[in-house]
Amino acid sequence: MIAKEIQIAAYLFASILFILSLGGLSSQESAKRGVFYGIIGMIIAILATVMGQGVHGFVYIITAVSIASVIGVLVARKVEMTSMPQLVAILHSFVGLAAVLVGFGSYMDPKTHALASTEHTIHLVEVFIGVFIGAITFTGSIIAWGKLEGKIRSKPLLYPGRHTVNIIMLIASIVLGVLFTNAPGTDGLMYLYVMTAIACFIGVMLVMAIGGADMPVVVSMLNSYSGWAASAAGFMLGNDLLIVTGALVGSSGAILSIIMCEAMNRSFISVILGGFGDSSKGGEATAMVGEVTSMNHEEVADLLKEAKSVVIVPGYGMAVAKAQYPIYDMVQTLKKAGKKVRFAIHPVAGRLPGHMNVLLAEANVPYDIVMEMDEINPELPDTDVVMVIGANDVVNPGAQDDPTSPIYGMPVIEVWKAEKVIVMKRSMSVGYAGVENPLFYKSNADMLYGDAKDSVEKILGFLKA
Ligand code: TAP
Repeated sequence: MIAKEIQIAAYLFASILFILSLGGLSSQESAKRGVFYGIIGMIIAILATVMGQGVHGFVYIITAVSIASVIGVLVARKVEMTSMPQLVAILHSFVGLAAVLVGFGSYMDPKTHALASTEHTIHLVEVFIGVFIGAITFTGSIIAWGKLEGKIRSKPLLYPGRHTVNIIMLIASIVLGVLFTNAPGTDGLMYLYVMTAIACFIGVMLVMAIGGADMPVVVSMLNSYSGWAASAAGFMLGNDLLIVTGALVGSSGAILSIIMCEAMNRSFISVILGGFGDSSKGGEATAMVGEVTSMNHEEVADLLKEAKSVVIVPGYGMAVAKAQYPIYDMVQTLKKAGKKVRFAIHPVAGRLPGHMNVLLAEANVPYDIVMEMDEINPELPDTDVVMVIGANDVVNPGAQDDPTSPIYGMPVIEVWKAEKVIVMKRSMSVGYAGVENPLFYKSNADMLYGDAKDSVEKILGFLKA
């Protein structure tokens, strides 16, 4: 057992480490350091909590933590980089479920009902809000997992009058909250059950209403909700560190959601109200105009030999093919031949915020040749060749000129403005948003069909020959 003062000092130190961790994660150069701070902070937090006053059942705690750690390590080692978003979504659901269970446990705890009148009411409000946010996070994250895993269709589920239904459910929850806080003893349990069911339904509907291309915002929004759920659990348990940590996750997730909304030109308010997926004006999909032409690997290698400036736009397909290593090999070969080569990263390319940056960092691509969308777009008209490798939605011109497109209004990398565009993918099939891409039909664009890794290796072979 450690003294309360030592626990408070340890919590303060862990909070500082968590803040340093978030700071570190804000740039690729310092990300590893950020993760290290986070690990140390979490070890201190767990030890200080478990060794705190009034904690019993060490055998149970150590057994549970050991089993969970082994499962966590096994799952994290096994998961493919392409399945990382699903893993993140399901982990968010655990945080939500934990907040719900803590809420119910805290309400049934006789100590709760021994509190003085005002303190008792405040605690019941904490329980109610914690369970509400937790239940929304729990079911919302499961639906997000299903959509990312392809088990639930990505098309938004929109039914007439859904906003009215949402408002009615919200009002019903407030009424239940009032009844709950005024119920004597544990008589309010029934209100808590009903509200939990309503919140679970809101969670499902909130995420079901969001369409494929808008999923990035959902992932970061659920990240934020899971933080607030943890913070609410901290209030219920009277644990200051959990309150601070939850608030850090909640607010950083909210900031990330706003950044995502800006990147996709969507309204933050309409996202949190679950009305996000209906952003297109609707109507018939625009017919594709033009002819699709293709090149072979040798022709692409010849084109690259002639080019002075090359921009590579990676997307989800690069992650699937694990093509980042041969791509960087190709970049080095081109650079040695005196060409200007850069990567252009769209904020929502892939399936996870920063997905492409992580993959390129894994292949040791230097950060100074990795450009953001806003930096590269003005330079594309002066670029000789753009290689789109496994990207689709993030280079779709329909986002700019087709008001019927579900991704209309989303800023995209304007690859078609370059002299020549090579689109490397396996077929003509659509991307995550399920939208046809007029880029493939442009006169300055050619397809190079095949697996991205395989294609890059073949091009590299011709370049080196
Ligand atoms: P997508 O639009 O999903 O397109 C990826 C393309 O890669 C597909 O059209 C596919 O075409 C191709 N591909 C798949 N496997 C391949 C392989 N082995 N070799 C070569 N090509 C392969 O990807 P994007 O452009 O990166 O856009 C991301 C989309 O996901 C956006 O709609 C975004 O909103 C959404 N999203 C993003 C996130 C985050 S946070 N980044 C989260 C959830 C959803 P083929 O089948 O023809 O090969």
